[in-house]
Amino acid sequence: MKKIYITTSIPYVNGSPHLGHALELVQADCMIRAFKTASYDVYALTGTDENAQKNVVSALENGVTVSDFVTQNSLKFENLKNALNTSFNGFIRTTSQKHILGASKFFELCREDIYKKKYEGLYCLGCEAFYKDKELPDNYCVNHNMPLTTIQEENYFFKLSKYQYKLAEIIEKDTVKIFPEFRKTEILNFINKGLEDFSISRPTERMKNWGIEVPNDKSARMYVWFDALTNYLTGLDFYNDGKLYNSYWKNNPLRVHIVGKDIIKFHAIYWLAMLISAKQLLPTHEYVHGFITIDNQKMSKTLNNVIDPTTIIEKYGVDVLRYYLLSEIPALTDGDFSFTRLKQIYDSDLSNELGNLLMRLTTIAEKDFINIAHFEKNITPAIKLAQEYAFNEGIRSIWEEIKRINKEINDFAPWTKTAPERKDKIIDWLNKLNYIGYSLTPYMPETAEKILASTTGAIKKAQPLFPKI
Ligand code: MSP
Repeated sequence: MKKIYITTSIPYVNGSPHLGHALELVQADCMIRAFKTASYDVYALTGTDENAQKNVVSALENGVTVSDFVTQNSLKFENLKNALNTSFNGFIRTTSQKHILGASKFFELCREDIYKKKYEGLYCLGCEAFYKDKELPDNYCVNHNMPLTTIQEENYFFKLSKYQYKLAEIIEKDTVKIFPEFRKTEILNFINKGLEDFSISRPTERMKNWGIEVPNDKSARMYVWFDALTNYLTGLDFYNDGKLYNSYWKNNPLRVHIVGKDIIKFHAIYWLAMLISAKQLLPTHEYVHGFITIDNQKMSKTLNNVIDPTTIIEKYGVDVLRYYLLSEIPALTDGDFSFTRLKQIYDSDLSNELGNLLMRLTTIAEKDFINIAHFEKNITPAIKLAQEYAFNEGIRSIWEEIKRINKEINDFAPWTKTAPERKDKIIDWLNKLNYIGYSLTPYMPETAEKILASTTGAIKKAQPLFPKI
């Protein structure tokens, strides 16, 4: 049986999940389901990144312990994962014992490339990263709306510089395939400017005892990115060299990461170097998506335009949100979300085009006592496109077919014909609609199931898929 391992990034838990997180989960789930539909043995992992220093600050502001704070917020991400009707197998929390043991083991495996050094640098608490002087204009982080602060401390460092040429080769030759191509170029340019060693610990004191202890050094905690990246292994029982790790990382030709454009440096540079150092296999693919904007503005807490995906799910249903994210937001670049557009596509694409098609056909078919045989299907082009991260094209191909059938129905006007006159046409359209239902499986699983059920066997008038709101 063919296998694939698919992961998302693990979000920070200093706030609640928003639409951007939903995008990544839905894209990943569409890919997961596309491979499952094609009978792959899929293992899919998501989770939460809980050891960041900013949790300490946020917990304090909220008047709860850091541990309670991250647990409450992690639960919100887990609930979102479920509310989006995703089919992940694993959910890794980086405060779990399994992760702590795995990350510590990984740290030890990199020992040869780790050394201690006094360091002064400019730090952004939002990014949890050091920057070089003037690397960001005015030494100000626009992403987090805060000035960088100068921090001086003694930390452990990882010898990233040692891997510069090796990394360039790996990316150049697509040993790890970075997709889309323009992100690969971006990473190669970054590498070729020269890589510096990066610090992989923070003083326990500054971390207020939060985070994973550096093995054999109580005075230091692991840098949050160092521990978080190892989740892709620790989520698979890496700590005890377990079955999942052996099956899906060590003995599996497809190891896929899905990440946003802002964290590609960590995944295509740091993580790969860490894996080489620890003598582990590398991922085979990294798919990089863009950002969701709201009315063409960046979604951020400061602009107060953060959208909670669950409110959309409650009002419109999960598949409507999935449809928006997979068809309207370009898979690999930025895309805009607006409630006006959501309402438009609900009324036109979903309710009018797809919903009415099913309703019209099943209404006639019930009257005419039509029976449709179930047939086994091969993987359709739309499912193949979902495997290739081409979600927009996949949905577009399905809707082209929906529009074609609607036009054929309007041209033929079956309601002006007798049952025997229209029988063959109705059966043909129902079969096509059944095929559409199958193609929709990775994109809109609930809707797909309803269409499949309504277009097989003795046909009965279907319930409306997308009732008027
Ligand atoms: N904790 C790190 C990831 C560690 S992975 C080992 C992190 N967390 S995050 O919460 O800031 O981001 C999680 C994911 O959400 C990233 O892939 C990021 O690109 C994505 N998004 C955050 N805001 C987004 C949008 N507005 N739109 C789409 N995705 C966005 O980085």
